[in-house]
Amino acid sequence: MEHRTEDKILLVDDEPSIIHSLKRTLRGNGRKFFEASNGKEGLRILDDHYVDLIITDCKMPEMDGIEFLESLRSRDLDTFKIMLTAFSDRLTVINAVNKGEVYRFVVKPWNSDEMRSVVNEALEKHRSVKDFKHLFDSHQKQNKLLIVENSNLEESVKKYLSIAQEKELQIQDTYWESVQSLAEALEARDPYTRRHSELVTRYSVAIAQKMGLATNMVKDIRQAALLHDIGKIGIRESIFLKEGPLTPEERAIMETHSAISAQILKPLRFLEKIIPIVYHHHERYDGKGYPDGLKGEDIPLGARIIAVADTFEAMTADRPYRKALPVDVAYQEIEKNAETQFDPKAVAVFLEISKDIEGLTNDKWKMINDK
Ligand SMILES: [Fe+2]
Repeated sequence: MEHRTEDKILLVDDEPSIIHSLKRTLRGNGRKFFEASNGKEGLRILDDHYVDLIITDCKMPEMDGIEFLESLRSRDLDTFKIMLTAFSDRLTVINAVNKGEVYRFVVKPWNSDEMRSVVNEALEKHRSVKDFKHLFDSHQKQNKLLIVENSNLEESVKKYLSIAQEKELQIQDTYWESVQSLAEALEARDPYTRRHSELVTRYSVAIAQKMGLATNMVKDIRQAALLHDIGKIGIRESIFLKEGPLTPEERAIMETHSAISAQILKPLRFLEKIIPIVYHHHERYDGKGYPDGLKGEDIPLGARIIAVADTFEAMTADRPYRKALPVDVAYQEIEKNAETQFDPKAVAVFLEISKDIEGLTNDKWKMINDK
């Protein structure tokens, strides 16, 4: 934010030629590179140095990329991680996301421009996360100091604390604005997303209300539904906007979006409760979903509700490459997949309010057209 220090990047790959070409592609002012030929060496470097970004290969001797990223978890680093994959098999990608919280995947051989823009974007996002943390920590410290110094001046402490709290809210506001601008960027990339998120939100809220959930919970579900797919901003356009079926590799990358959504929202403490809902919105009731393969009621209720709303909206929307299913057929599909894909209770409530659902769809459509 105020001062720009150099960006430190750790490159981990057992092939010297890859390290060399990464350095050539990414060299620039104010960038310092560290090199390691496997995960163990990478860990040793991290013992002594702070880095902003790690770019790691997957298959390496001694300690592979997944193990490496997994062992970083206990270190509580805010470092962003990019994984290189020679072939992007679903298991590798899912493992990497679950175990290592990877920001992006780049499939080898990469395109230099794409690699540069992925890295620039990662460093930029990392910088804003770091700035945010820095401000937050310094406010916390200031608060503590003040309590000690003014132990007799309760009034002024209270006053200061309220200013600090206000400042903290402002920081959260700033980050919230950047999340909203991400949502807007996503909508700009694909206008369908806007209608999709709005309708999924309406359906999810209607189901939650009919279930008689507490107002706070309905509010969380509403927020989660609005932001559930925000991680798609992290998926490259060739996949995200592809008109037609995805290859297994592309699908695996696409499926990282729910974890990316959660990662984007993580710094916002006021959204704490919605992060598990967002993260798990593609789990299936039978445990065959992603990212964690959670089953039944282990899946957060909000995520089970959004799963029904999300699928219904996707089936009944026209996309450039396929026509919408008739509403009746979509209802039958949802009903057929109760117990397997969906929570039967959420399905039952959804079918119960089907008349309202149609009204909500049309209202929303009118509103979007009016804009
Ligand atoms: Fe999604």
